[in-house]
Amino acid sequence: MPFLKNTWYAALWLQDLPEDKPFGRVIAGESIVFWRTVDGTVAANEDVCPHRRAKLSVGGVRDGKLTCLYHGLGFGGDGKCAVNPHGPVVDSLNIRSYPVEVQDDMIWVWTGAAELADVALIPQVLAFTRTLPETGFVRGSTYAKASHKLFEDNILDPGHADFLHPYLGSGALSRSKRMIEEGENSLKLNMFQANWRTPAVMVGEFPSPDIMTDQWAEVDWNPNGAMLIRTGATPTGRPESEGIDTWTAHIFTAETETTTHYLYASGQTYKTDDASFNEGMRQGLRYAFEAEDLPMVESQQANLGDRDLMESRPALFAIDTASVRARRLFDRLVAAENAEKVPESA
Ligand code: FES
Ligand SMILES: [Fe+2]
Repeated sequence: MPFLKNTWYAALWLQDLPEDKPFGRVIAGESIVFWRTVDGTVAANEDVCPHRRAKLSVGGVRDGKLTCLYHGLGFGGDGKCAVNPHGPVVDSLNIRSYPVEVQDDMIWVWTGAAELADVALIPQVLAFTRTLPETGFVRGSTYAKASHKLFEDNILDPGHADFLHPYLGSGALSRSKRMIEEGENSLKLNMFQANWRTPAVMVGEFPSPDIMTDQWAEVDWNPNGAMLIRTGATPTGRPESEGIDTWTAHIFTAETETTTHYLYASGQTYKTDDASFNEGMRQGLRYAFEAEDLPMVESQQANLGDRDLMESRPALFAIDTASVRARRLFDRLVAAENAEKVPESA
């Protein structure tokens, strides 16, 4: 069983859900259709018609019901069949309804046991967007042909920027000390480097291009692929509050074991009212991801085929400690979830 089920997955940005049409997306191996009910709330249902298994996302919303385009079966957001042009409406025509929650303009869906779906469990990786004006952050999404785990490894190794994105790195992060705090359900990586040259992407925010700065990176990892990285710098020896901070939420929602929906948001403490600066940041983030990270990570998957990275017995270094520990934690959580489903005597 490769996926964690009892978790909230980031499915898509609210703005990407059409007003009047359903939208289908495979999440953690499950085919799910998202749509808006008559009162505008978002519903998430199994994207499989009980009659001949057509995708309901290919159909439409008619008279407030999710309606199969093939032969007209209609469903409410609760999954109950409400319309059957071919016979009686019976319970055997009901489809699954998933717990769904809109938070920070993200549609989160719970793929496990519905009674365990507590919204307090949604990782707060987008909380930084609440305090910023609309012009102060950007969001987006794309798609990648590689495992969510390889992308999570990538973010848990911020030092790769020194090599793969030299304008983002300054050599500080690949040499700085790493501290890892592991929780029951999450992992945090802290990195700090004192008195180092400032990365090109930040240097314009300081009075001199030669300024030496103290630099930090903090990465929060959650087992649903929702991650937050805070990076910043302050003039050497000065408090963090005198420097600059940036936040990027990188959310890697598994589609299959080898494909991933990537959803992101980014903001910073400076120039929050400058929409064109933020548009430049968005383009920079997209470039770093699509032109640099994505081909690199897809190249790993191409070499691995269907194998997991760890099965291939890769060479590992100290820079891999956080990602190896996150992978172990993920495996333990998936194993625990599946152990719960099997009676002990079985
Ligand atoms: S396949 Fe959906 S109504 Fe026939
Ligand atoms: Fe990267």
